Amino acid sequence: MTATSLGAPVERREGRQKVTGAARYAAEYHLPGRAHAWPVPAPVARGRVTAVDTSAALALPGVLAVLTPDDAPRLAEPEDATLAVLQGPDVPHRGWCVALAVAETLEAARAAARAVRVTCAAEPHDVGLDPGHRDAYEPKETNAGYPGRVEHGDPQAAFAAAEVRVDTVYRVPPLHNHPMEPHTSTAHWDGDRLTVYTSSQGGTTVRSVLAQLFRLPEDTITVVSEHVGGGFGSKGTPRPDVVLAAMAARHTGRPVTLAYPRRSLPTTVGHRAPTVQRLRLGAHTDGRLTAVLHETTTHTSRVKAFVEQAAVPARVMYAAPALLSSHRVVPLDVPSPSWMRAPGEAPGMYALESAMDELADALGMDPVELRVRNDPECEPGSGKPFSSRHLVECLREGARRFGWAERDPRPRSRTEGPLLIGTGVAAATYPAAAVPATASARALPDGTFAVRINATDIGTGARTVLAQVAADALAVPVDRVGTEIGHSDLPPAWLAGGSMGTASWGWAVHEACAELASRLAAHTGPLPADGIETRADTAGRADADSPYARHAFGAHFAEVAVDSVTGETRVRRLLGIYAAGRILNARTARSQFTGAMTMGLGMALTEGSTLDPAFGDFTETDLASYHVPAHADVPAIEADWIDEEDPHLNPMGSKGIGEIGIVGTAAALGNAVHHATGIRFRHLPLTPDRIL
Ligand code: MOS
Repeated sequence: MTATSLGAPVERREGRQKVTGAARYAAEYHLPGRAHAWPVPAPVARGRVTAVDTSAALALPGVLAVLTPDDAPRLAEPEDATLAVLQGPDVPHRGWCVALAVAETLEAARAAARAVRVTCAAEPHDVGLDPGHRDAYEPKETNAGYPGRVEHGDPQAAFAAAEVRVDTVYRVPPLHNHPMEPHTSTAHWDGDRLTVYTSSQGGTTVRSVLAQLFRLPEDTITVVSEHVGGGFGSKGTPRPDVVLAAMAARHTGRPVTLAYPRRSLPTTVGHRAPTVQRLRLGAHTDGRLTAVLHETTTHTSRVKAFVEQAAVPARVMYAAPALLSSHRVVPLDVPSPSWMRAPGEAPGMYALESAMDELADALGMDPVELRVRNDPECEPGSGKPFSSRHLVECLREGARRFGWAERDPRPRSRTEGPLLIGTGVAAATYPAAAVPATASARALPDGTFAVRINATDIGTGARTVLAQVAADALAVPVDRVGTEIGHSDLPPAWLAGGSMGTASWGWAVHEACAELASRLAAHTGPLPADGIETRADTAGRADADSPYARHAFGAHFAEVAVDSVTGETRVRRLLGIYAAGRILNARTARSQFTGAMTMGLGMALTEGSTLDPAFGDFTETDLASYHVPAHADVPAIEADWIDEEDPHLNPMGSKGIGEIGIVGTAAALGNAVHHATGIRFRHLPLTPDRIL
């Protein structure tokens, strides 16, 4: 590879390590004397722990300790209340950790956890999401700091006066992240120095949170996240595993690993909160929107306000003189919701893009043309110009590649025996931002370069793309650049999340390498033995202080076959065309797009969780009941992009690509199911029991 490697399909550097099993994950640090922990979940959905009987557990062979709310180490009060584990008797939801067994082996820890007898005083609980709930309120801010409500024009009046109207309600159930590697930490104390190996999307935050909780200076804590087996947002902030492992290690004087059992993940690591979304669209008969009203209701827990920002995409997508985008939230006795890939956009664009399809139907207009006709000059919610927006180009290119022009728009117009065949389209969007980061770059006498930054690779290929960014800035072949990431001794950087990782880290890497290149150009004679090092501290680019609205856009096209006998929907084709700035690595980018589209396929057809009103718990707690798509469910997915030049982003000109692939995918599939069957289903997932 040469210096023009930015954009090239460079293979990921850790690929061989991963497929040979050499890559180490958080549970695979076999420290001498390492013990294992297993959590004991609360047996009630609301109440207090009145007694924890540990005698039977402690009598089992190999059991070292059982931590309870009475004797666990005391922590400083965390900002994130879900980390206040074993600090008191209150139980805010079923599955809340009420004891932790620690033993010589994983099996002994599991047996001990099952032998712990927990007695609770139960109180009545409520886990039912209902938009009319008496505790529902309108929050000032949603998740990610968006205003809860944006309103302009007179949306109610504009809707009432519209020539054509759509007024519908869509429901998205709770969804679970379920990364292949569960949330896992290995903790080890050496005096007052703490080392954790943890499966996290961002070790810098883990270190500052642990420092605060355990009242330690940050430089006494080392956080290592060398490889991470998926995160999807659920590892964006530290989860209880890292806190409990550190507590157990302190309590027992041994290194301790806590790998959350799969069945504990739904109640422990956050979920995508369910949404009930009312969409009202008003339009002229020529298809021009006159009113967009997107009102969403979601739930949060009793310990934390986390508001899924599902109505936010209505502020970005289409031109209309009147807009209402608002959120309501109901605190319930449920586990705390949290981040899941494209929080807000994924459920919100399911609803908005389904409603656009319903409007196209009502107008008798092609759904691609309807979107093109309503493409705005400026961002509707803020009035800011877009830094770049090529949604129309994505729709046109996607339509061309998909063969959209040959589509007969009439529902149920294509059949193959008992199969009803349909196609659908939906748009996608995701914000493009960057946050502060620090990186160093060193030129060594042997002609190689070392780039260091505490970035994390959650399976995306961060090491590889950062080497490409460095090689490009240094104008050297990419194989001369080494990247070190995933360790808190490295220059600090924010997490792999919000589709901001590469933009933020790459910015700092680019600056450090550009500076190094100019130092080298001015240098004469051989380099000193330890080389020449530069360091860059970049500020990133927040939205509030910019004159531009920055978003990636895309278009999803889907073809399905619905079996009219079994109700089963099979996906035949899925195509995504994106406009996301400059694509920095064609191979790893395509992998992220198709991975997220697969997750969107799951959201549309197979994934869904329910809260049992009697027990107050999720009923789908393992992968046998929570159905993620398997290989046989996934057709040949095609993802591609159009070249986009945007000077208002970062030195690489890139937009984030980790999340946009799941946005709108479920709507494209749902719209295809409508085209196939002639029936509108507005409650995900579209499982056979709903279709029949
Ligand atoms: Mo992503 S849900 O911002 O990790």
